[in-house]
Amino acid sequence: MVPRGEGYSMSGWNHRHILDLASFSREDYASVLELAERFRALPVTGARKIPALQGRLVATLFFEPSTRTRSSFELAAKRLSADVMSFSPSSSSLSKGESVLDTARTYVAMGADVLVVRHRSTAVPQQLAEDLERAGERTVVLNGGDGLHSHPSQGLLDLLTLARHFSPQHPMPEALQGKRVVIVGDILHSRVARSNLWALTACGADVVLCGPPSLLPDAFEAFVDAPPPGFSVDPVPVRGRITIERRLEKALDGADAVMTLRLQKERMGQQLLTDLDRYHRDFGLSHQRLLLCGKAVPVLHPGPVNRGVEMTGELLDDLKICLVEEQVRNGVPTRMALLYLMAAAESAAESSLVSSSS
Ligand code: CP
Repeated sequence: MVPRGEGYSMSGWNHRHILDLASFSREDYASVLELAERFRALPVTGARKIPALQGRLVATLFFEPSTRTRSSFELAAKRLSADVMSFSPSSSSLSKGESVLDTARTYVAMGADVLVVRHRSTAVPQQLAEDLERAGERTVVLNGGDGLHSHPSQGLLDLLTLARHFSPQHPMPEALQGKRVVIVGDILHSRVARSNLWALTACGADVVLCGPPSLLPDAFEAFVDAPPPGFSVDPVPVRGRITIERRLEKALDGADAVMTLRLQKERMGQQLLTDLDRYHRDFGLSHQRLLLCGKAVPVLHPGPVNRGVEMTGELLDDLKICLVEEQVRNGVPTRMALLYLMAAAESAAESSLVSSSS
């Protein structure tokens, strides 16, 4: 049965805004995966909508370009019967000098229940959430990707994709336990890598990071060692390990899955890479390179892909190995789960307010 807003147990879910995955417990990951899996099982033809978010308004405020995340959130909201408002920076009043905060407030004034926010600067979604809290607004913020910091829905859809690969019958966090997941490429500029580090290690995977020092500083080995910001104790008692291997051949040896990341030239303040051919030779994936894993392993990439740089075009087109399209497919039910959980948490808060005042 797919939840309709009142029947699904969300015991322990206490995230009002979703700004990053650092604060997620293993139970939180389980809630998202379980719900996403239910939404994934909805028929792909015929009546695709359920009325869970009927009467709610979701606004997608993407101040930075996006193909996948924005469309996927909008489709997810529509499948849950929410109204959707979309915002385009180039045709908005930003060009007349209106601030990001005032833009967001405009959508709140129109009754937005959820703001999905993407911005090139770290912490913009958090600042908006704090501003809404100060103003006593009930609108919640969902981070659609901020600077180098976080891309929580991408981390979660990657988790669902891997859990489904390792355990198709029971795609839950434990499917990742003890797996060796290699993340290769531009880790330094990747919010996707950071979200995946929190998610994968929380589910017990050991992560091997691979890239040149200019794109992968040594400090990443200790990324999850300290409690997340704002926590005195990590909400995940035992995490998988993070190690760094500079040579792709060593990183791939024994891997269970490989995730490669886009070279994010737009975020490189200085010329960190001079030779794309050399990067592809040292860190690019190909069918031949994958033989080093010693077994058949899936390849993930959050997209958009630089064809022939992060991986060969032949590998990108090989849907038996490359799960890029599967990741996109899993994005919709994952985002439905997030929107559903946020709306259900808000309804629970509203009813407790009503019952305490009556
Ligand atoms: N993976 C991802 O965030 O893609 P978009 O930039 O197209 O949303």
